Amino acid sequence: MGRVILTGDRPTGKLHLGHYVGSLRNRVLLQNEGNYDRMFVFIADVQALTDNADNPEKVRQNIIEVALDYLSCGLDPNKVTLFIQSQIPELHEMTQFFSNLVTVQRLQRNPTVKSEMVLRGFNSEGEDDNRRGLPVGFFTYPISQAADICFCKATTVPAGEDQEPMIEQCREIVRSFNGTYKCDVLVEPSILLPTNLACRRLPGTDGQAKMSKSLGNCIYLSDTPKDMEQKVKSMFTDPGHLRVEDPGKVEGNTVFTYLDAFCEADDFAKFWPEYANLDELKDHYRRGGLGDMKCKKFLINVLNDRLDPIRARRHAYEQDIPAVYEILKKGSEAAREVAAQTLHEMKDAMKINYFDDAALIAEQAKKYQSA
Ligand code: TRP
Repeated sequence: MGRVILTGDRPTGKLHLGHYVGSLRNRVLLQNEGNYDRMFVFIADVQALTDNADNPEKVRQNIIEVALDYLSCGLDPNKVTLFIQSQIPELHEMTQFFSNLVTVQRLQRNPTVKSEMVLRGFNSEGEDDNRRGLPVGFFTYPISQAADICFCKATTVPAGEDQEPMIEQCREIVRSFNGTYKCDVLVEPSILLPTNLACRRLPGTDGQAKMSKSLGNCIYLSDTPKDMEQKVKSMFTDPGHLRVEDPGKVEGNTVFTYLDAFCEADDFAKFWPEYANLDELKDHYRRGGLGDMKCKKFLINVLNDRLDPIRARRHAYEQDIPAVYEILKKGSEAAREVAAQTLHEMKDAMKINYFDDAALIAEQAKKYQSA
């Protein structure tokens, strides 16, 4: 069995630099390394609806945003199957069969579900004026996510740390399925985390732990150069670094965290030849005598260098939106074929492909034949 890569995103907003360094950049590298049998990247609209049931329009609008973000980052539909979750009905059947193998208690222990419940004000104990009830679909989305991963027998799921409990739960489901039905139809996936620590959780421009739309601290891949520049200029740095001469702190300084995440070896030669590398720049900042604005201007140059090719590709795809939907349609058809095959194998293992089961039909016929 070869290597199959799968990952996806909920279409609840445009993708930002946190998505880029945490996942997108890595996906494009994986795609171009070519060290896999097949690679899938998908838009998880069914999962997005688990906490947006009353706002399908939001999901509908963001599908194209996410697709444009994917393509503009360099995902190539000739190498990667891009698809939309809701277009693969087989996933729902798999989810149903999996849900019989998972207990309510196990779902309640999933740390990602727990923290997302708090974030959304979902409460499993009861509902009143202040507490929203917990939608069943939201509560069980880790099971549906296991189907997303299993339909193509993914071996490798590039994702952020927050997805670790999901992958663990998926592995349990795979073991339980294969064990219960005495087969080896499904494959246990492993997560592929970003290696650079700054990339695992890129802070928002305000220095908060995470980029998040509701905090308004995101730089989006689709931001104009002017918007990006403005956001970097107002970025959180070291509040103790008041005058240029003062020594500055690099740890917890968002500008330096971003440089850790984005800087490449030749950026200094290109944009700031006074320094040989990031360590030298940090040393100077720590000693004092280096102003925030100079560092921010360097970061702006670095980001523009990374974002310019992304902007150019986005602009090109934006000129032919119907073609983007066509890419998603073709990808969804291809993914569906794979899902149908796996579902068939699952049903074979469960022995519920009754009409293909000549032995079953013969056995029953014999049982009921009058003597
Ligand atoms: N849970 C992921 C997110 O919140 C999206 C997702 C759904 C996913 N199914 C997946 C990611 C399967 C990786 C594999 O972004």
